[in-house]
Amino acid sequence: MFGVNYLGHFLLTVLLLDRLKTSGPSRVVTVASNSYRRSKLDFSVLLDHRDSALGSNYSQIYRKYCNSKLCNILFTCELSRRLQGTNVTCYSLHPGLIRTQLGRYLGIWMKVFVMPFFYLLFMDPKSGAQTTLYCALEQGIEHLSGHFFSRCTLQLNIGSKARDDAAARKLWDLSESFCGLSKTHKLVSGDGSGFS
Ligand SMILES: *[C@@H]1O[C@H](CO)[C@@H](O)[C@H](O)[C@H]1NC(C)=O
Ligand SMILES: *[C@@H]1O[C@H](CO)[C@@H](O)[C@H](O)[C@H]1NC(C)=O
Repeated sequence: MFGVNYLGHFLLTVLLLDRLKTSGPSRVVTVASNSYRRSKLDFSVLLDHRDSALGSNYSQIYRKYCNSKLCNILFTCELSRRLQGTNVTCYSLHPGLIRTQLGRYLGIWMKVFVMPFFYLLFMDPKSGAQTTLYCALEQGIEHLSGHFFSRCTLQLNIGSKARDDAAARKLWDLSESFCGLSKTHKLVSGDGSGFS
């Protein structure tokens, strides 16, 4: 979950950064989720890879999903800080609940439980793309780089864990290590206080 939802996008973005800068104005839009609110990011667990197994029940799997979505938001915070003074801006967003194929491997009873909500409350994919399109295309939001959006609107009252600059920096360093990008960082296990 961490690799697919977060780390792969981190690496792709970092590899594209020079190109994004020379072809600015450009934007990095990261699709996160309000489910970051249920996240509980533990750097010591990430560090020794105990977080890499999906878990055996839905609540564990959902927690990993929420954690990966918090990572998407923290990544956007740190990225905007690193992009100050360039013509590259970045945004993260909650797209809403959308009728996609995301739940195609749910067990049959979970599907039976989820289906009514799925058809009554979830948006079709076209509606679900609107906040993403807004962040990619809306003119004049460049000064809001690094922020989180929902329903095509800036969200300022997001939880403190999604505004934690120290965690965002730590996550960035850790991600560089995981991707083999940092030569200077030494991994220190524990609570991550070895990071600077
Ligand atoms: C899921 O598994 C974890 C760890 O085995 C356990 O602590 C938790 O209570 C389980 N949750 C549910 C809803 O079964
Ligand atoms: C940003 O874009 C403006 C307008 O295209 C340009 O004048 C400026 O040099 C660019 N700044 C950087 C840092 O690339």
